[in-house]
Amino acid sequence: MVQLTLPRNSRITTGKTWPKPEGAANLRKFSIYRWTPDDDDNPRMDTYFVDMDDCGPMVLDALIKIKTDIDPTLAFRRSCREGICGSCAMNIDGINTLACIYGMDEIKGDVKIYPLPHMPVVRDLIPDLTHWYAQHASIKPWLQTETNPPQREWKQSIEDREKLDGLYECVMCACCSTACPSYWWNADRFLGPATLLHAYRWIIDSRDEATGERLDDLEDPFKLYRCHTIMNCTKTCPKGLNPAKAIAEIKKMMVDRMV
Ligand code: SF4
Ligand code: SF4
Ligand code: FES
Repeated sequence: MVQLTLPRNSRITTGKTWPKPEGAANLRKFSIYRWTPDDDDNPRMDTYFVDMDDCGPMVLDALIKIKTDIDPTLAFRRSCREGICGSCAMNIDGINTLACIYGMDEIKGDVKIYPLPHMPVVRDLIPDLTHWYAQHASIKPWLQTETNPPQREWKQSIEDREKLDGLYECVMCACCSTACPSYWWNADRFLGPATLLHAYRWIIDSRDEATGERLDDLEDPFKLYRCHTIMNCTKTCPKGLNPAKAIAEIKKMMVDRMV
């Protein structure tokens, strides 16, 4: 069973405090969200202490140390450890970001870690992104063409290729969508900033021949227009991308094609 981060009529309780490592001089305290929806009535916050003199510099290093040395039941996703796979996205110190590129030295005091907000929880720091991925698939994130394929490749000028800068670098971490209040309340129908950034990436690809259909598909009171330019998405993106600008560009194209 998958449940939201804080289910209705529920509360986050105080969990177990694990012992401090012996002889450590450079301790940091971690308060980490724990929940297995099938087994636990309520989520809880467990407390761990990590000797930072015996740990790498990133938040993910500390999580791996906790899982390896203290509590193997702690669940989180990670793969690349260099900000490329997008899988270690979580809410650290109130910010949606990638644990592998978020330095411990950026956090003052105790470290609080939650899963990405307003998403169903599979377990602990692992959100269920099934709906989010389905939304991404709905914008047909691939090259669509009607003309006969060229013998070698679909060519693109340097200038047209540059239009994809700031878009293709998205690592699909979902930090932006889960920071967006409009997405929190309307995720069933609003596509959210990540999916719309990808939609724009294909709309402006000079090789794509489905621009009209792509815009038609977004012409909907919810899919696109639930963005109210609150800018949380751009502020939080760990790759420094600007989904809000991409959304604004789509809205501008919608206006331009009506005049
Ligand atoms: S700019 Fe739009 S998409 Fe981004 S956080 Fe605000 S409402 Fe959400
Ligand atoms: S736009 Fe940024 S925050 Fe959003 S999914 Fe892509 S990399 Fe993550
Ligand atoms: S582990 Fe791949 S982005 Fe963090």
